[in-house]
Amino acid sequence: MNVTPKTHPPSPEFAANSHADRPRYDEMYRRSIDDPEGFWGEAGRELDWIRPYTKVSESRFDQGDVSIEWFGDGTLNVAANCVDRHLADRADQTAILWEPDDPSEEALHITYRELHGRVCRFANVLKRLGVERGDRVVIYLPMIPEAAVAMLACARIGAIHSIVFAGFSADALGARINGCDAKVVITADGAPRGGRVTNLKDNVNKALLHDTDDVKCLIVRRTGQQIAFRPQSDYWLHEEEAQVSDDCPPEEMSAEDPLFILYTSGSTGQPKGVVHTTGGYLLYAAMTHRYVFDHHDGDIFWCTADVGWVTGHSYIVYGPLANGATTVMFEGVPTYPDAGRFWAVCDKHQVTQFYTAPTALRALMGQGDSFVEPYDLSSIRVLGTVGEPINPEAWNWYDRQIGKGRCPIVDTWWQTETGGHLLTPLPGAIPTKPGSATLPFFGIRPVVLEPESGKRIDTTEAEGVLCIEASWPGQMRTVWGDHKRFMDTYFQQYPGYYFTGDGCRRDEDGYYWITGRVDDVINVSGHRMGTAEVESALVAHEKVAEAAVVGFPHDVKGQGIYAYVTLMNDVEPTEDLRRELERWVRSEIGPIAKPDLIQWAPGLPKTRSGKIMRRILRKIAENDPDSLGDTSTLADPSVVDDLVENRMNRG
Ligand code: WT7
Repeated sequence: MNVTPKTHPPSPEFAANSHADRPRYDEMYRRSIDDPEGFWGEAGRELDWIRPYTKVSESRFDQGDVSIEWFGDGTLNVAANCVDRHLADRADQTAILWEPDDPSEEALHITYRELHGRVCRFANVLKRLGVERGDRVVIYLPMIPEAAVAMLACARIGAIHSIVFAGFSADALGARINGCDAKVVITADGAPRGGRVTNLKDNVNKALLHDTDDVKCLIVRRTGQQIAFRPQSDYWLHEEEAQVSDDCPPEEMSAEDPLFILYTSGSTGQPKGVVHTTGGYLLYAAMTHRYVFDHHDGDIFWCTADVGWVTGHSYIVYGPLANGATTVMFEGVPTYPDAGRFWAVCDKHQVTQFYTAPTALRALMGQGDSFVEPYDLSSIRVLGTVGEPINPEAWNWYDRQIGKGRCPIVDTWWQTETGGHLLTPLPGAIPTKPGSATLPFFGIRPVVLEPESGKRIDTTEAEGVLCIEASWPGQMRTVWGDHKRFMDTYFQQYPGYYFTGDGCRRDEDGYYWITGRVDDVINVSGHRMGTAEVESALVAHEKVAEAAVVGFPHDVKGQGIYAYVTLMNDVEPTEDLRRELERWVRSEIGPIAKPDLIQWAPGLPKTRSGKIMRRILRKIAENDPDSLGDTSTLADPSVVDDLVENRMNRG
């Protein structure tokens, strides 16, 4: 386990042509730590400011007084930075290259000039619907250009967007619409994915069914299918656009005005609204996009994420567009029409950087190399991964089959909360080791703490919990509507540090190896899921008395969802009920939350004070009943025997 695997240095040619070779990385990193004011003060000038900042950072992680502020007295507009400022040099360059779900439908090349017109018109439509600066707008769209246009339109007029992944259910959507008091929800008639169509508008109608406020719904026509149109509050985008001009001056925003809210799962309670602001976030997204993917003019950058996740925010929309890149937006899935789709799209559009999740690589690897072989992948220069630790098999397959041994692989560790990459190799600078996110990005000061004592481990080799010592521009600022929750979640456990929730090991070269979450968050196919959320969905079912959810190792998804369910008295555990509960969780949260395994549990292992001992449940779910450890503190140790005997995972 601790044997250092082969390292992969960048080729000298790659290093020579990159934004940063090793000496340059070392020098810039050193400066960013020794003189953060100077470093970020200069870096921030790459954005177009309306009123330039005079202050760089006023950030403190002191106990009880966490405040984070970057470029606080500067003003700017994100849409102007991502679109307008490129009109002088690259108006006719493709900004968004859209690849539809169905490969026989035509791809779209939207130039910066066209994008400008679309964003301005969309912004005027929002204004016509009464959206003002500071108002919240929920975006519930498939991966179509209108999703990026809607984000930029909000940014242009100073409205705060909150994207809800189109795979989330009506209930989850409703909770997020209410959570941020949205004035408008933007959706589409339907969402084609993998050859099937989801009725998005139906979900919106269900979500708004019990809504007493007047939430308006703006609908993009994507499929042309029949929808249940509500004349009092629904509007077709194309009809509204016909009524407005394409002149919409960008709003002057403070660097610290919120840009977006994005809900993410935590270890307790319902998802929290992560708030990112304007100046620091945009700078951090742009800078990481440029250095980590070694972006150059003429590149075709493809991040396969959905805009419903932070990866899509930072590396489909804001980072690439701030850099004047061509960004690919893909509506489909990796396996439709077959498991060669990613490589077909790379070939067709001559993609230069390709960024995806380990779970997708594992799934595709399992389909065999014949799906890769027909395609020319010689345009690719940099490969990236994100979302979970990558296992060496998948890393090596990616390296050999996709990169043909000549493309650096950047394993980027970050979080919804961090806005952009924190630990990652720069492709021309850092020799990679399969499975390690390597070293910190500029300005990032990672520390490893002893989990129990919180003591900082200063030796190079260390193992413990991963915290960050000082603020960086892309850091989240607060939890929407609940600053106390922000402080409690991230700054209470280890005072003076930002607590990531991840465990890690630092090796003899100072490289970081993420070992996974140390809290009750699980990572399913690179998506974050709170076990508490799945539990509360299960117990909301009338036949369920109690539920406990843990993760277990899963070959493709990384982790699967394992649910222990105690039924109400007199309820028969049947296969039908099992399927009903699966459907139930899908409808409460969404398909990604569906338990992989449900075990009927006559009782759960609890301490005398009633606390569920998850350690034991994890071991049983992992099919490792021989290392349950001490069970003597349980109120009723005999429940464990039944759980072990009837465990669902014997693989
Ligand atoms: C959690 C954050 C931010 C992008 C997508 C996920 C895990 C993320 C890596 C990586 C090992 C990783 C961590 C982190 N994670 N990237 N390269 N190696 N683990 O964002 O939903 O906010 O989840 O994903 O556990 O805490 P997210």
